[in-house]
Amino acid sequence: MQTLGSFMIYTRIVGSGSFLPTTVVSNNSLAKDLLSRGIHTSDDWIVQRTGIKQRYLAKDDINTSYMAVESAKMALTDSGINASDIDLIIVATSTPDCIFPSTACIVQSKLNANRAAAFDLQAACSGFVYALSTAESFICSKKAKNVLIIGSEKFSRILDWNDRSTCVLFGDGAGAFVLTASYDCGILSSCISSDGSISDILSVSGHFEKGEIKGSPFVKMDGQSVFKNAVKVLEESARAVCNKACVDISNVNWFIPHQANIRIIKMLGRRLNVSDDKFIITVDKHANTSAASIPLAFNVARLDGRIKNGDLVLIQGVGGGFTWGSSLVRI
Ligand SMILES: CC(C)(COP(=O)(O)OP(=O)(O)OC[C@H]1O[C@@H](n2cnc3c(N)ncnc32)[C@H](O)[C@@H]1OP(=O)(O)O)[C@@H](O)C(=O)NCCC(=O)NCCS
Repeated sequence: MQTLGSFMIYTRIVGSGSFLPTTVVSNNSLAKDLLSRGIHTSDDWIVQRTGIKQRYLAKDDINTSYMAVESAKMALTDSGINASDIDLIIVATSTPDCIFPSTACIVQSKLNANRAAAFDLQAACSGFVYALSTAESFICSKKAKNVLIIGSEKFSRILDWNDRSTCVLFGDGAGAFVLTASYDCGILSSCISSDGSISDILSVSGHFEKGEIKGSPFVKMDGQSVFKNAVKVLEESARAVCNKACVDISNVNWFIPHQANIRIIKMLGRRLNVSDDKFIITVDKHANTSAASIPLAFNVARLDGRIKNGDLVLIQGVGGGFTWGSSLVRI
């Protein structure tokens, strides 16, 4: 939100969209597949520790830009804004099609969004809240009027399918928002934060050097450190954005935290004194889709009628970096 003369400029969500690959893999089916390679896991273990029951996995011919474009088309249709009127495209992803061109430039071309500047944003699982906050800065400073933000991940590409402590946790998918400048309502307050000093608790260290991959091409995670830090920063940033907007947490209608683990979400709810039924939960069906998890969850609740115009929604991301952020939005 920004005051210009006597007018408040808000960043309003006017459209949302999502895309999930067609292949659904249940815990049982994944456990069977892993067992054939001598790796033991079970539906019981995965559900009890994470709340995940299944995930969607993209086939070889589906890449991050494809999923991004499909979710963007749905969001644009929902918004009624033409691709040619989009000023800026931001794609949040840790699994870009290639190093460059950016996935955002590929999306721009496929959508014929000819006027848009386009770039990728990498903040791991916090990517979408970082994109939302960045878009807000462009809109409130009048550098852009209509912005398309997308979280898209083919996370299965960077999973070590021999590491049961990580490979059961993630899935693929994409989600998008169309944002526009509004005098009525939109983002009331937002914050983004990082702590690079604990970057080693969640990382993919691999990179190209002289034609070779150096470091690991796979996700490495200290699950318990990630868990503790996630709960802490999600609580702190929820309180910070609500205080900044002078909104009591009890007046927030819906909470959409990053969908990584149901136990993180439940602990957050207890710390904020918010009942479970105010949380939008999709981690059971989608697993952790990294930067895509928030718009995927938002779109589910928008389509099934839970999130309505006028509602106050708290959107929260957390992930590798270590990064986190929150936005309090009047829909
Ligand atoms: C990953 C996570 C589910 C692991 O749960 P945990 O209770 O911390 O479990 P631990 O890592 O202590 O492992 C406990 C045991 O389960 C085993 N285990 C790990 N993965 C397993 C799996 N998929 N199936 C069965 N057993 C498994 C471990 O080997 C360990 O066995 P041991 O006791 O014989 O050594 C949990 O730490 C977590 O959710 N962390 C946050 C992760 C997250 O959200 N990441 C994304 C953030 S963006």
